[in-house]
Amino acid sequence: MTKHQFEAEKFPPEIQEIADRMNIEPDRIPPYQLPELPFSDTVSADEFLGRVRPELVRIMADNMYGPIPPHCDELVFRPRSEGMAFDGLAVRREIDIVCRHRGQEQVLHLLLYIPANRSGKVPVFFGLNFKGNHACTDDPGVTFHPFVRYPDSWTVRFNDNRAGEDARGIAKNGWCFEKVLRAGFASATIMFHDICPDRQNSFDRSIMRLFYDRSEWESPNRPFGAISAWAWGISRAIDCLEAQEEIDRTKIIVHGHSRLGKTALWAGANDTRIALTVSNGSGTCGAKPACRYYGENFEWIRLWNPHWLPESFRRWVGKDREIPFDQHFLMAAVAPRLLYVSDGTDDVYADPPGSFEAASAASRAWKIFGKTGLGETVMPPPGQLIGDQVGYYLRKGGHAFNPENWDALIRFTSAKLK
Ligand code: GCU
Repeated sequence: MTKHQFEAEKFPPEIQEIADRMNIEPDRIPPYQLPELPFSDTVSADEFLGRVRPELVRIMADNMYGPIPPHCDELVFRPRSEGMAFDGLAVRREIDIVCRHRGQEQVLHLLLYIPANRSGKVPVFFGLNFKGNHACTDDPGVTFHPFVRYPDSWTVRFNDNRAGEDARGIAKNGWCFEKVLRAGFASATIMFHDICPDRQNSFDRSIMRLFYDRSEWESPNRPFGAISAWAWGISRAIDCLEAQEEIDRTKIIVHGHSRLGKTALWAGANDTRIALTVSNGSGTCGAKPACRYYGENFEWIRLWNPHWLPESFRRWVGKDREIPFDQHFLMAAVAPRLLYVSDGTDDVYADPPGSFEAASAASRAWKIFGKTGLGETVMPPPGQLIGDQVGYYLRKGGHAFNPENWDALIRFTSAKLK
């Protein structure tokens, strides 16, 4: 039997108990039906954009993520460094994005690589990273990110509690900058803790304090959670990328893995500057439909990571199969822009067949624009890239985004966005 990816971790017994109870037997899935998308096939493209899309976003905000905070009063792009990288393959630029609001300040450290050999503006991949910019590449020119050692933090636990120079490049397989640059794309990242540390009570170090007072934040009405905060950070990164003269602002791609895949989808639904939204292994509250009783569930999300979502999400815990919306609503809000969903065969808790089904159901939104979304209703075997405006790729293996994923994603992006 496939193990939960975090089974080796020491969870408190009440959390482990939920993991142990999750269904991973396909024959034990009770009959289910994805809720009907709230629009008819005859709605016009203008109506979809003017009325339906905002309504889909509202449904997801009210029921799951909470709103994304507004823009901040002041945004400054402060250059930190610039130089050549990867033997002349790229220009490396580090920029501090200074976000100011209500007298508070938060700095997001952006790392950007631009192909040195280019003609004209280039598309850019942007993704939040888990372990610091320096962990995404061996490039010794990247400023080391001295992140706070949270003894109970997921990132640091998976990093052997190392927060020193030896962490350089440890996550490079998830980024493959040289491959991406050679294919003609720029690539940029920010560590997600810059925006909001992935832990409870992160108020003091997060963008939350730009918008709320502590008492409001800590009340039972906490309006949003880390996923909306991270999505806000993605939009500030886009503000900065748009200001770079080498970047084609019509070709901004946002990608994310796992909890950051959930975040990429939420950002893609909200920020229409994103031309292609990419979510990998995003599971519950990502691409996986909740009504399919398989893999992880709301109870697990809420108990293990209550800070990801607003307090109001409590009301759906244990009611996964009763919700009047589901994750295809979220994906439909990305239409008619490009969407790409991927999973690993062994990442059963993220429910790859469920994600495929939700992407397929969401594809109805692309039809409104006379386009084909996924165009397939049968899940492909591993290794076969499919889809039209909605791409899908299943990789053999577990919970990761790796060089094989980059090959497939570059193929999709080069075909659809260049
Ligand atoms: C856990 C969690 C998932 C999440 C993943 C991750 O597995 O249950 O919902 O996507 O962690 O972010 O790695």
